[in-house]
Amino acid sequence: MFDQDKPLPPCNFVIFGATGNLAGKKLLPALFRLELSGRLPEGLNFIAFARRDWDDAAWQAHMRQILDTPGPELERFMARFDYLRGELHDPAAYAELKEALAKPKLGVCSNVVFYLAIKPDDFPAVIRHLDGAGLSRPRGLHRIVVEKPFGQDLETAQALNQLLHRHFDEEQVFRIDHYLGKETVQNLLVFRFANTLIEPLWNRNYIDHVQITVAEEAGIELRADYYDKAGALRDMVQNHLLQLLTLVAMEPPPSLDADALRDEKVKVLRSVRPIPVNAVSAQALRAQYRAGPGLSGYQDEPGVSPGSVTETYAAARFYIDNWRWRGVPFYLRTGKRLNDTVSMIAIRFRHPPQQLFRETALESIAPNWIVLSLQPEESMHMEIHAKQPGLGMDTRVLRLNACFRDARDQPLDAYETLLLDVIEGDRTLFIRFDEVEWAWRVVDPILRQWSQERDFIASYPAGSWGPPEAERLFDGIDTHWRNSVEPA
Ligand code: BG6
Repeated sequence: MFDQDKPLPPCNFVIFGATGNLAGKKLLPALFRLELSGRLPEGLNFIAFARRDWDDAAWQAHMRQILDTPGPELERFMARFDYLRGELHDPAAYAELKEALAKPKLGVCSNVVFYLAIKPDDFPAVIRHLDGAGLSRPRGLHRIVVEKPFGQDLETAQALNQLLHRHFDEEQVFRIDHYLGKETVQNLLVFRFANTLIEPLWNRNYIDHVQITVAEEAGIELRADYYDKAGALRDMVQNHLLQLLTLVAMEPPPSLDADALRDEKVKVLRSVRPIPVNAVSAQALRAQYRAGPGLSGYQDEPGVSPGSVTETYAAARFYIDNWRWRGVPFYLRTGKRLNDTVSMIAIRFRHPPQQLFRETALESIAPNWIVLSLQPEESMHMEIHAKQPGLGMDTRVLRLNACFRDARDQPLDAYETLLLDVIEGDRTLFIRFDEVEWAWRVVDPILRQWSQERDFIASYPAGSWGPPEAERLFDGIDTHWRNSVEPA
């Protein structure tokens, strides 16, 4: 993980897909924030590689528009960039890239990062051409960052990995899942394993079920080209949500060493009970947004293929068959164009035996919850019962709220953290291939079943909380999706 005190090495950083959505929305703003906070080293230079027929001036105009913060820092940031026009599938573009990397401004350093902020379909071509141009060497100093989803399913992920290993060593490969760079996600480890209070309760004896929600108000924006082939299960569940599940469910690792952590995460994924194909419809659900108040439907988004059955909402119930979790359902859901933008992990505890309160108003006491909110706020909420002051035996819920950051904290956003790690060459927060493989094994049966049901998909109005059918995943009568950190 990024060490604040260690100076970063000089680096040449090539962004493939520099004019695309990911670069514009996440990478460039994160890099610019690092510039503003003075964290970028002197000798860090960028090559923005993209297809648009632009020159440096057009690229700078684009950056000005995206970053929208005029001033000396922006000028300094922009001066780090050269724009290189090239086709991802054209070997000549890589020869040009090699030449550009040897120019005096860039040629002084041998530390090179290739960031693949492009459609997954284009990964293989770039990997091959980089090696073909001799850019995968020297090993150790040239690194490649591969965005998720890594593959379309288990088989294609394995093929992609073999291809990567034909051209790069594992030490050069950074498989990114930006959720692992989020402060609260890392905080889960501390929350669970540094608090004697929490850990003894963290098992099937006390926990009734776990809900993991990543809801977004945004639609697919201008990403139909990628999203229409991916869908919510591949875009979010196979990676971000399953990573959250592993962190909630894993055993304490023997150390914080990257591999010790990954070993424990893989054990969780290996223990997830495979969903038999004939149980997919009972345990998983997909849907697509239709037009809602003031919002267009998925089918009307630019670039979506007519009649597409790509899911923009996915929910599933999983069980982890191990000593700690046997029988405890884990409910995962994610969706675009939902009612709110929230990411949270809600843990519902079992009911107390209650005999003591049988004759009182407390008979119908609600269970305790711990809700860990990842965004928009980073906080922990605990709901416990207390007696209402007065003569009767009435109860009220006390909410213990704790914000994980205070005004003095200046945390880095996920991409800032991970980009610094890439420049530094630290792979701790990146994904090992067996994690990718086991995560695909978890979602593959669902994908297979959904691909059989080619011509129908349920829908939900844009701006709602998703399809009402999602409630049927719960097996208890008093369990429902929790849409907010606030109690319903
Ligand atoms: C990306 C997905 O990995 O994560 C996007 O491809 C999604 O579809 C995004 O919008 C959500 O990230 P965050 O950090 O905004 O929750």
